[in-house]
Amino acid sequence: MTDDHLIRLTVNGSEHVLAVEPRASLADVLRDDLGHTGTNVTCEQGICGACTVLVDGQATRACLVFAVQADDSHVETVESLGTADRLSALQQAFREERAVQCGFCTPGFLMLATWLLREQPDVDDQGLREVLGSNICRCTGYRGILRAVARVRDSGEPVS
Ligand code: FES
Ligand code: FES
Repeated sequence: MTDDHLIRLTVNGSEHVLAVEPRASLADVLRDDLGHTGTNVTCEQGICGACTVLVDGQATRACLVFAVQADDSHVETVESLGTADRLSALQQAFREERAVQCGFCTPGFLMLATWLLREQPDVDDQGLREVLGSNICRCTGYRGILRAVARVRDSGEPVS
């Protein structure tokens, strides 16, 4: 006897039907069942933002969402942004502005910034600071992250 629930998720454009435990978080299903290990998990309490993904276009802390709650949704993870050979504008800017130190927080910041620049392409510097300050960089790399996101905002390039 199993309590698993069948859910349907579209992740980075690919559709999956999965049997998941009722208590499984979206982050765990993305990582453990679908292999999208770019979604990092640390606090599992909604504090750090390392697990940020987009669910139906909204920036979402995947550790706080049960996978069953995401049934029938479209999820975008950091793997959707680019590849090692073809970085997205944000990924390239993070690299060039030295926004990546240990890199553990980077996927969450990239997805949060992707959401922000899609929603508010003209966000001002204060808005950038307020939104990006909701994720934690333990290496205190905020200046580089702010420079990188501001650079893409100012370039007018599509974020993804
Ligand atoms: S692991 Fe989800 S917010 Fe920290
Ligand atoms: S670069 Fe290390 S936690 Fe942000």
